[in-house]
Amino acid sequence: MERFYIFVAMANQDDQFKKVISHAKEYGYVFQSSEIYDGLSAVYDYAQNGVELKKNIRDYWWKAMVQMHDNIVGIDASIFMHPTTWKASGHVDAFSDPLIDNKDSKKRYRADVLVEDYCLKIEAKIDKEVKKAAKRFGDAFNKDEFIATNPRVLGYQEKIDGILSRLGKSLEAEDLVDVKALIEELEIACPLSGSRNWTDVKQFNLMFGTKLGASAETAMDLYLRPETAQGIFVNFLNVQKTGRMKIPFGIAQTGKAFRNEIVARQFIFRMREFEQMEMQFFIKPGTQKEWFDKWKETRMKWHLSLGMGEDNYRFHDHEKLAHYADAATDIEFKFPFGFKELEGIHSRTDFDLKQHEEFSGKKLQYFDHEENKSYTPYVLETSIGLDRMFLAVFSNALMEEELENNTTRTVLKLPAVLAPVKAAVFPLVKKDGLPEVAKEIIEDLKWDFNVFYDEKDAVGKRYRRQDANGTPFCITVDHQTLEDKTVTIRHRDTMDQRRVAISELKDIIKKEVDVKEWLMKM
Ligand code: GAP
Repeated sequence: MERFYIFVAMANQDDQFKKVISHAKEYGYVFQSSEIYDGLSAVYDYAQNGVELKKNIRDYWWKAMVQMHDNIVGIDASIFMHPTTWKASGHVDAFSDPLIDNKDSKKRYRADVLVEDYCLKIEAKIDKEVKKAAKRFGDAFNKDEFIATNPRVLGYQEKIDGILSRLGKSLEAEDLVDVKALIEELEIACPLSGSRNWTDVKQFNLMFGTKLGASAETAMDLYLRPETAQGIFVNFLNVQKTGRMKIPFGIAQTGKAFRNEIVARQFIFRMREFEQMEMQFFIKPGTQKEWFDKWKETRMKWHLSLGMGEDNYRFHDHEKLAHYADAATDIEFKFPFGFKELEGIHSRTDFDLKQHEEFSGKKLQYFDHEENKSYTPYVLETSIGLDRMFLAVFSNALMEEELENNTTRTVLKLPAVLAPVKAAVFPLVKKDGLPEVAKEIIEDLKWDFNVFYDEKDAVGKRYRRQDANGTPFCITVDHQTLEDKTVTIRHRDTMDQRRVAISELKDIIKKEVDVKEWLMKM
């Protein structure tokens, strides 16, 4: 039996990320959109396996956020909304990125991203110091103590904090002159041309416009929604009344959002068309701090339930708050290119409901029977990008392992609950009635799980294909099966094989892929 004994760390971040992208294509997870026409920048299509993984992530979120809460319900609002929505929400006036052009390369950048990338380079220096010290001190090394006391690390951290705090303040005050001054003081150069010949920083609105109507004269200007949240706000009263919801209660939805991202890079991390999973939790004014902490904890537990490593997550509290928030934090994940935002948790105050009240002229208040008064609820929002979650899951799962026989295997160790295919069924050979039995097993299992039949190539090769595809189980039908109705079942992660009765298969698979088993870990 083959056994693995070490993980081979993938060469470096860049290489690892390239492998993630090419693996996603090779195994039918993600394709470039309109590839035959050379693609469309920052737009992607989910392929046959990708669509299943994406659906499983969405379902895992929906189960945890909607169906497991008796005070949260779901909706599915339209992408098109009345254009006044976006005036009221502040997106027409304030949903923009600060952009800067390099006059030599003619490349356009997000000014804040240039500064943040600069800070990431300093952060890499801290990592280097930590690694060096860990090597020097061996088992006696205490990372937290080292970071808290080492003068060089403290110096780097102070520099990062100073830069980010100034950036945050300048952006909040709309002081774009200072943002440019910061870029110049830090001597940030264009990554393409190496030149520091920058234009002024300007704001650029991220919403895509379109038109509704048959003739040019009468057509109405619309926007493709840049977030799903507003579909929830405008339906707040409808849902509250028809669902007889009592505060605190939540409304959740998943759906497409569109942003004309300028720095559209890093594969499906930042896309122009993407999907969000958002939940607005309506609460009594004054309780927002308590609910902010509660939802921070609950959402982190959801992430950790997937077993992708506690060290891969961290909170990042916002210095610069969006126009609607009185507190905000990001759950950051360690992507192949470093820690980046995966989910946002925002205390949105009563900003949105009040704005919609003002712009629509309709009352959007809640009558609290306990308090015997009406008020505009405050809102706590959790907002996660489905595509970003996909990338987190996929990139974290992809690894190469060196086996005892000096070969390596590529394996996609997706959390079994999310894997697109739960089990592959193989006849050992394509004769003697084995394919027929394998197909019978498929027919039975497919009522409960997404399963796959494969009879091509040697079994070892088929195992490898399923490892790389992320399939948690492979089931092989051989000649013994004909005699005693047993098969071998092989586990993707341990590669252990054992002989079990066909009648046991369903329970064995269910135990590892059942949503309940995973969510109970929350
Ligand atoms: N309703 C609040 C809101 O939209 P956001 O921080 O702008 O907040 C929430 O977006 C989440 O949506 C992000 O944490 C990220 O996961 C995802 N997201 C935002 N822009 C994205 C993009 N261009 N491509 C992919 N995901 C994106």
